[in-house]
Amino acid sequence: MSAAINRMFDHIAPTYDALNRVLSLGIDQAWRKRAVAALGPIAGRRVLDVCAGTLDLARLAQQAGAEVTASDFAQAMLDRGRAKVAPGTELVRADAMHLPFADGSFAGALNGFGLRNLDDPLAGLREARRVLAPGARLVVLDFFRPRRAVTRAVQLLYNRRVLPWVGGLVSGDRDAYRYLAASIDRFATRQEVEAMARAAGFDRVWGEDLTAGISALVICEVKP
Ligand SMILES: C[S@@+](CC[C@H](N)C(=O)[O-])C[C@H]1O[C@@H](n2cnc3c(N)ncnc32)[C@H](O)[C@@H]1O
Repeated sequence: MSAAINRMFDHIAPTYDALNRVLSLGIDQAWRKRAVAALGPIAGRRVLDVCAGTLDLARLAQQAGAEVTASDFAQAMLDRGRAKVAPGTELVRADAMHLPFADGSFAGALNGFGLRNLDDPLAGLREARRVLAPGARLVVLDFFRPRRAVTRAVQLLYNRRVLPWVGGLVSGDRDAYRYLAASIDRFATRQEVEAMARAAGFDRVWGEDLTAGISALVICEVKP
């Protein structure tokens, strides 16, 4: 499963950024800014961007003064984003469920739209917890399965009609965008991910809906 997802992201890398902007009408960058702000003060501190893709979150964390390391298993996504970050930024090809970093080595971590792609999201949360230092936060930004019937109906319509059609047209890979839509449909609710983060060992966990719950943050803190 992981290998197929890796290949899929390598394949859609060239059109990934343009499609994000079109599909979200540009709101996705505001969500990413909010995710970076939710890390708290990060200037001069080491921050890990997991499932970093084309490095939009990594760039924003760098702009906030963090010393950023970015990891993703799709090399083509990292290569595509390389020009957005400072020369020499550490970009590491790695599986989010097996991170090649020492325990407690980061003062913050981000996972944007990556958690729902993991075969085992709990393992991904445990790995993020392992590499965080006391007092650090992991901020997860994703499309969770909405609890409210109306939001869910709108999301289903968008995911089944708009996403595969526009995604297929621009990227030439309709199956990839069908997969992405299905991954949102079957993902956990925000509250379920919050419970998962507690089970992964985070001491304080809370959520924040963005744009009427279209996307949301789960903020996971390690006690100081
Ligand atoms: C939807 S993209 C999000 C990229 C970026 N964080 C953003 O905000 O646009 C999901 C990323 O997760 C990566 N990914 C999925 N499963 C992964 C895994 N098991 N380990 C590492 N990266 C993974 C994919 O390669 C892809 O780049």
